[in-house]
Amino acid sequence: MPEPRPEVLDFLLTRRSRPAKTLAPPAPDRAEVALLLTAAARVPDHGKLEPWRFVVLSGGALPRLAALIRELGAARGEAPDALEKLAGGFARAPLIVAVVAVPKPSPTIPEIEQTLSAGAVCLGLVNAALAAGWGANWLSGWPALDRGFLDRGLGLGPAEWVAGFVHIGTETRVPPERPRPDVSGLTDWVTA
Ligand SMILES: Cc1cc2nc3c(=O)[nH]c(=O)nc-3n(C[C@H](O)[C@H](O)[C@H](O)COP(=O)(O)O)c2cc1C
Repeated sequence: MPEPRPEVLDFLLTRRSRPAKTLAPPAPDRAEVALLLTAAARVPDHGKLEPWRFVVLSGGALPRLAALIRELGAARGEAPDALEKLAGGFARAPLIVAVVAVPKPSPTIPEIEQTLSAGAVCLGLVNAALAAGWGANWLSGWPALDRGFLDRGLGLGPAEWVAGFVHIGTETRVPPERPRPDVSGLTDWVTA
């Protein structure tokens, strides 16, 4: 017989990200972040390749990266309004965890499966932060894939990229629920 854990199920049925722009200090401290990352790393990972790692961005790293986004974004021809929004999001963030996808050579595990595992880490991190009482938001944007940002900003290796910038901080307001998918319309039962 199943042994339900209604509190966990209730969390999963009601969980909701907190928009990054509504997050304020304080951010979790190092020990609190370590706990969240431990939970986030507990994901399905075909072949136990660990095709991901974490870069925790805090303190002076955030304005430094905001300045780099302004510089690179201008060179890319990004629209000034959108660029300022993106850079401001880094400058004002209480803390960001870059979940780095680290593709591993494997004769049996295709890269797409490694990418799926990195995505699972991102959701696991958002959920762990929400469950611990923090606000959290999984964002990407062009810096997640821009080689200049990844090399100069984060010091990543040539095959590495960012599966998610997970913003974590203190929530200042609870957002309204957003429309959720009609799961019955997305589900087919195949029984024969
Ligand atoms: C890979 C990925 C990248 C995302 N990037 C952005 C982004 O750059 N900007 C944004 O506003 N939302 C982005 N989102 C969506 C946010 O995470 C959004 O807050 C989320 O869909 C809310 O979902 P929830 O209410 O179920 O927690 C992204 C989502 C995913 C899965």
